[in-house]
Amino acid sequence: MVVTIRAARIGDAAAIAAVQRASWFAAYEGIIAHDIIDEFTAPDDGARMRQTFRARPWQHTIVAVADVAGPGPAAIIGYASFGPERDVLHGSWPYELTSAGVAGQVAELYAFYTDPGWWSTGTGRALMERVLRDTARLDFAEIVLWVLEKNARARRFYERAGFTADGAVNMIDGLGGVPEVRYRRAAS
Ligand SMILES: CC(C)(COP(=O)(O)OP(=O)(O)OC[C@H]1O[C@@H](n2cnc3c(N)ncnc32)[C@H](O)[C@@H]1OP(=O)(O)O)[C@@H](O)C(=O)NCCC(=O)NCCS
Repeated sequence: MVVTIRAARIGDAAAIAAVQRASWFAAYEGIIAHDIIDEFTAPDDGARMRQTFRARPWQHTIVAVADVAGPGPAAIIGYASFGPERDVLHGSWPYELTSAGVAGQVAELYAFYTDPGWWSTGTGRALMERVLRDTARLDFAEIVLWVLEKNARARRFYERAGFTADGAVNMIDGLGGVPEVRYRRAAS
């Protein structure tokens, strides 16, 4: 079995949405109310993801594709989205970009998910290596991300990937008032 990382295509939207839904339920049950997870990730044919891609032309999305041995199509098993830093602390969804983001100095990892059936197989690590390579290639100096304070698994993953919490905290009112914390590292 080989996992390939490539740029996402608009036709990947439904598969990306399915990874997001499975991953949200596996990681966020007990942190975010079940009904909110269900509503935010309600199954569709990828329309919500396509809308996000179109509304955010500055966003880069990459996917991890498993070339599963045997019959059947290759499967999208993870994805990551990144781009200029958003001003999460001084606005509301979908957020303006910060001046450091617009200037191309600070990038942000907007989304980072792998399918729960593939956790701990190196897929997240392969996606992260590509994110860091791409943000360095685009000349960003730094990259930040926001992660739910209680998402211990992801926080451990990011810390092993060289990110450090910088002390910033944001309350996500739209998800029922859950805190998220900011991490950062050099984009290299
Ligand atoms: C967090 C997440 C993306 C990690 O993906 P993954 O595919 O399981 O990651 P990997 O298989 O590459 O990581 C395997 C292990 O290597 C570790 N690792 C990752 N990068 C590493 C590095 N650079 N150096 C050393 N170890 C590393 C990980 O901590 C992990 O350890 P564990 O198995 O003991 O937990 C995945 O668990 C996920 O999608 N979680 C739910 C969604 C989520 O929380 N996303 C973050 C939103 S902010």
